[in-house]
Amino acid sequence: MEKIGLFYGSDTGCTEAVAEMIQEQIGEDIIELLDAYDIEPEDFDKYDKIIIGLSTWHDGQLVSAWDDFYEDFKEVDFTGKTVAIFGLGDQYGYSTYFIDGVGILGDVVLKNGGKLIGYWPTDGFEHDESKAETEDGEYFMGLALDEDNQDEMTEERVTKWVEQIKKEFPIDS
Ligand SMILES: Cc1cc2nc3c(=O)[nH]c(=O)nc-3n(C[C@H](O)[C@H](O)[C@H](O)COP(=O)(O)O)c2cc1C
Repeated sequence: MEKIGLFYGSDTGCTEAVAEMIQEQIGEDIIELLDAYDIEPEDFDKYDKIIIGLSTWHDGQLVSAWDDFYEDFKEVDFTGKTVAIFGLGDQYGYSTYFIDGVGILGDVVLKNGGKLIGYWPTDGFEHDESKAETEDGEYFMGLALDEDNQDEMTEERVTKWVEQIKKEFPIDS
């Protein structure tokens, strides 16, 4: 079975916990978890299907591990690769920067030739602005999760998104 690389960065463990939930749902034999602190650009060469997980910090900044890797990330060639992104944020505390990191990394994937899947409706969130939004404001460029205010919805959102990306990648199961 073709492996999927799930590259994540997490400061206080919330994104990491979601990464593990996704691994459990799709299968430990399929999903390989990679902490963005420990990755090299060449790690992306190993996978045609990629999941990226991150949180946003400090008014729209990438979580530290992705921030450290960002210059290298901009050089990754995503041609022929399919990428799904999930992001954690706080829609009320950081209402004008909600999950900005998803937009920052998503823009790089698209610019560097990748196909982005896993778009998620903005409906159900009360933020004001986000770099992750599509032009029409109808979707985020990946799954949006808010463990600070809507943690009771995380599992249901993840499960639904996993079903969606399984079809969009596609993943046989
Ligand atoms: C100091 C601070 C700054 C934050 N800045 C943002 C932000 O700009 N945008 C956002 O959506 N969330 C922001 N958050 C919320 C975090 O992204 C959220 O708590 C997330 O679940 C943390 O995930 P992690 O433990 O995987 O790093 C911030 C949280 C803190 C404590």
